[in-house]
Amino acid sequence: MSLSIVVLAAGKGTRMKSNTPKVLHKISGKPMLFHILDQAGRLSSDITVILSHKFDMVKEAIESRYQNIKIHKQDIANFPGTGGALKGLEFNSSRVLILNGDMPLITAQSLEKLANSTAPIAMTILKLANPSGYGRVVIENGFAKEIVEEKDCTQEQKKINTVNAGVYCVDAALLNEFIPKIDNNNAQEEYYLTDIIKMAVDKGLNIEPIEVSEEEFMGVNSKLDLANAEEIMQKRIKEQLMLDGVIMRAPHTIYIDSEAVFKGECILENGVTIEGACRFENAHIKAHSVVEDSTVINSDIGPLAHIRPKSHIEDTHIGNFVEVKKSILKGVKAGHLSYLGDSEIDEGTNIGAGVITCNYDGKAKYQTKIGKNVFIGSDSQLVAPVTLEDNTMVAAGTTVTDDVPSDALAISRVKQKIVRSFFSKFFKKS
Ligand code: UD1
Ligand code: CA
Repeated sequence: MSLSIVVLAAGKGTRMKSNTPKVLHKISGKPMLFHILDQAGRLSSDITVILSHKFDMVKEAIESRYQNIKIHKQDIANFPGTGGALKGLEFNSSRVLILNGDMPLITAQSLEKLANSTAPIAMTILKLANPSGYGRVVIENGFAKEIVEEKDCTQEQKKINTVNAGVYCVDAALLNEFIPKIDNNNAQEEYYLTDIIKMAVDKGLNIEPIEVSEEEFMGVNSKLDLANAEEIMQKRIKEQLMLDGVIMRAPHTIYIDSEAVFKGECILENGVTIEGACRFENAHIKAHSVVEDSTVINSDIGPLAHIRPKSHIEDTHIGNFVEVKKSILKGVKAGHLSYLGDSEIDEGTNIGAGVITCNYDGKAKYQTKIGKNVFIGSDSQLVAPVTLEDNTMVAAGTTVTDDVPSDALAISRVKQKIVRSFFSKFFKKS
């Protein structure tokens, strides 16, 4: 059996109240549409996404990550609606799985169940305490007979609480036959994909309703739905990681993006945030630290540290209130209150409290290179571009503006003066 997958994503998503197209809103750092495409990709490599609203923007986003996704532009002005979305498409496969772009929690397992149905049309249903807003499904003798949209329902039909979840698996030949015939004779004057159910029934075919879980199939329509979906996604990501061997303290306080990878024995303490494509191996991230798009190997970070994008931290100790950005640290100790940006720091080096790389002059960014076994005293500033060679020392409070050659000490201080009996004179009671 050959399977094609179509993802409907042309709608405006008005209820999101956002300039960002609905399907590009992110869940755990990844656009909703990409969550769906990643799951769909496990079933078939023949995937078409239907777009219209903000066409160029969504197309560009898709193409930045996927090579083989086909894109179809819906003529939404002339053919609005889910049926209009498929007009102009022809299917050469034997089955077509139709998905919505706003169901980021859908899993490949559930889609597989649907794809395995041998009915000419399998459709997904939900039983909802409050069915309002959804198409109601008329079921007789266990088979679906019709889907009636809310706005076309009679008072009686409105009471039906079995609703259409909007995901279908259909014989391609039926779609090729039915899609051109869908009209817009309904309350919304839209072309309803749901009309294919009645068309198939009129041909004497059986439509199998498959009950699916609310968690996976409830669409995201508002920012409230987005936040709820995010919570479920976070729970899934963290549960899987813990089963895979990551230790988490108070996991409900931890946030982890969907692309993070963990190896070996990792510990995440409470309040940790992991954003972007991070890689961890035997890493201990202490409470309330933030790590973004970086690699951390055999190292401990925090508490309250900030590792910003493009950092590589290996065999290193990063303590509290240390910020690292776009830097490579190997075998380094930076225990307290530092900013290390655009730098390369080698093994055996100790960064004292309050050391700052001055990487920016207001116009451009510059590199700081620090070699092996360098001891940098507290509260020093390293004005980039600057190089500190292996086996060097910087005295506390020094502003390093020139390169420091191997075996040297850099010191820049005003000599200390002692003024005797100053205190008692200054505070003398008159
Ligand atoms: C549709 C179903 C309804 C079902 C509900 C489940 C129809 C006519 N109705 O409702 O029975 O209960 O889904 O969520 O199909 N889209 C397009 N082009 C369009 C319109 C929509 O691509 O012209 C896409 C949207 O981007 C979205 C999906 O189709 O991903 C569903 O559209 P939406 O407007 O949310 O669904 P309804 O039509 O309200
Ligand atoms: Ca609609």
